[in-house]
Amino acid sequence: MASISLLDASIAILCFLIFHFLLFKKPHDRFLRNWPVLGMLPGLLMVLHRIHDFSVEVLENTDLTFPFKGPWFTGMDVLVTVDPANIHYMLSSNFSNYTKGADAKEVLDVFGEMIFSSEGELWKIQRKAAQSMLTNQWFRKLSVSATRKKEMVVDLQDVFQRFTFDTTFVLVTGFDPKSLSVEMPEVEYANALDDLGDGILYRHIKPKFLWKLQNRIGFGQEKRMIEADATFDRISAKYISAKRKEVRSSKGIDHHQLNGESEDLLTSQIKLDPTKETVASALTWFFWLLSENPRVVTKIRQEIISKTIPERNGEENLDKLVYLQGALYESMRLYPPVPFQRKSPIKPDLLPSGHKVDANSTIMIFLYALGRMRAVWGEYALEFKPERWISQTGSLRDEPSFKFLSFNAGPRTCPGKHLAMTIMKKVAVEILQNYDIEVIKGQKIEPDPGFILYMKHGLQVTITKRCSP
Ligand code: HEM
Repeated sequence: MASISLLDASIAILCFLIFHFLLFKKPHDRFLRNWPVLGMLPGLLMVLHRIHDFSVEVLENTDLTFPFKGPWFTGMDVLVTVDPANIHYMLSSNFSNYTKGADAKEVLDVFGEMIFSSEGELWKIQRKAAQSMLTNQWFRKLSVSATRKKEMVVDLQDVFQRFTFDTTFVLVTGFDPKSLSVEMPEVEYANALDDLGDGILYRHIKPKFLWKLQNRIGFGQEKRMIEADATFDRISAKYISAKRKEVRSSKGIDHHQLNGESEDLLTSQIKLDPTKETVASALTWFFWLLSENPRVVTKIRQEIISKTIPERNGEENLDKLVYLQGALYESMRLYPPVPFQRKSPIKPDLLPSGHKVDANSTIMIFLYALGRMRAVWGEYALEFKPERWISQTGSLRDEPSFKFLSFNAGPRTCPGKHLAMTIMKKVAVEILQNYDIEVIKGQKIEPDPGFILYMKHGLQVTITKRCSP
């Protein structure tokens, strides 16, 4: 009898512990348990499909910085932080000690010798080249033409991806691939990009030896990446060769005045860098947030009517649209198109948060979580409030870049910010003046855990032509 009672008591205690563990432990305690040998990897794999929202829960509960422990001896330990003091320290005041890390080049090898993964002298040269391209007047010219169809159902994310794909090609090469046309032709590039994004994410969470082996034998996700890269090269080669032909025969558009050096630049630009993806991602989340907040749409439309001069459709009109700019910033605060940043110290260091970091260790900044931290953005951090960007005098409120990191901070601040804002404002004005957009009910809206913050299932909407502006 006594032994049965002991058994009963043991089972009861065990049940209580399991019950307590499952129900009363915070989600991050439950999932990110540090197991012998495997570290926190099992828990991470369980929440990987919702890594962005999970990171918000974790970082909100761990004072903005969390040390992730990977499996033993795999070098996968990562210090995750959204502490603005750490961000400012690594990206600006102590910039010279923080690179993207020795691994970054390997993880991002699909993008070749691109500015995003380069460091030191090569980065300086590439940055100068990118800046001079972006300040070229022709690069700022952009036209958005509206279709005459009265009503249609489309995947808005797909539309924006096609739009940015076409405009980048037109701006860089002068050729229009017309992927955004009424027929909506198959864009093999889009699938290739998905595969690359997934692959880059998996390279961050798989032991290096494993993905390298998979790459060598062409297996699984790595095989898909190799195929995607080949697709990119094939598409790029086609347009580069057409452009070279055009330049050599000295016919057609001459606005690039290509020489040998700029042909190389063209090659790297056309290698479908991820910059245009950021614009497509930002616009998709923006229009989804607008559909959830009709009062913001009304305010933007009123601003367009009251502040712009219809005959002028240039930048001088767009610069006056302060509320629209605030709404776009607010959308990118909640849905930053580049959701992660990776840093690695050259020398051991002590971060302002008090965390010690070893040389060559990995530090990740989760921008999605940063934009949602109550400690950073206040009690209503999760709400979409464009007003938070408007000062009492009605001008745009400046938020420090280590708090609003969507365009990065310090010497590596995004040089395309002005261009991106111009494009997005122009697209928003054109659409809001001419169309009503209604999101089709019943869709699951969730971020894809990739390199660029896309919607996992796209955004199905009905677009209806407006009768009056
Ligand atoms: C909404 C649109 C955009 C967002 C949110 C954005 C954001 C960013 C971020 C976060 C970085 C730092 C990435 C890293 O170091 O890992 C970056 C870098 C960069 N962006 Fe943008 N970007 C946007 C649009 C553009 C556009 C349109 C261009 C040019 C056509 C551009 C050109 C660049 C370049 C060249 C860099 C590398 C800078 C460097 O490493 O020195 N971006 N951008």
